Amino acid sequence: DETQKIRECLLEWYDLNKRDLPWRSKKLDSSSPSQPPEERAYGVWVSEVMLQQTRVQTVIQYYNRWMHKWPTLHLLSQASLEEVNEMWAGLGYYRRARFLLEGAKMVVAGGGRFPKTVSELRKIQGIGDYTAGAIASIAFGEVVPVVDGNVIRVITRLRAISANPKDLVTVKKIWKLAAQLVDPIRPGDLNQALMEFGATICTPLNPSCSSCPASGHCHALSVSGHDSLVQVTDF
Ligand code: ADE
Repeated sequence: DETQKIRECLLEWYDLNKRDLPWRSKKLDSSSPSQPPEERAYGVWVSEVMLQQTRVQTVIQYYNRWMHKWPTLHLLSQASLEEVNEMWAGLGYYRRARFLLEGAKMVVAGGGRFPKTVSELRKIQGIGDYTAGAIASIAFGEVVPVVDGNVIRVITRLRAISANPKDLVTVKKIWKLAAQLVDPIRPGDLNQALMEFGATICTPLNPSCSSCPASGHCHALSVSGHDSLVQVTDF
């Protein structure tokens, strides 16, 4: 069906085009013995929190410095608020740094076993639907969606949803659609493919429809054409 076709397009595109980012540098599939999922989860957590308000290019340096200073969740849990704020300087929204520190403390205080599912992750200070979905799917392979601004835009275009994408009801609907779209075998890759595809191809302005691997399945494109997408700045 069309959902399966879209998955295949996005995963194939991702395999060929995914950026070489430090939190992906270790082989991310389960056949890699080098990095246990719990260690990977910490890196995914840090990177996804940084990525929430900040561009990938800026995050890379901050991520590398952070992981150099606190290579494990356990080491982070022993840091002071002053230290994490200092490391965060320039990224803005300092609440995020405090949440990471408090989250690390919560996990360590609970025995150090890393939560692995969305419902467990949501209990950690500062972890919302987005971060929980990202960690659970990317690090642990839970078949759950992740929705950020890029994913909202991609899905509203693919499905030609004309409702206001900032409306909470619409966002709920998009989470449901994203849950149907997530790949049952490669959930983390499909979620990252959607986000990266939205950031680089299905951009807010001047989307690259001519090089889009999913253009044949895009209802917005077939209904109103590329020029209408170019005009859309709302999402
Ligand atoms: N934006 C936020 N998180 C991302 C990820 N894991 N991959 C690509 N883009 C992202």
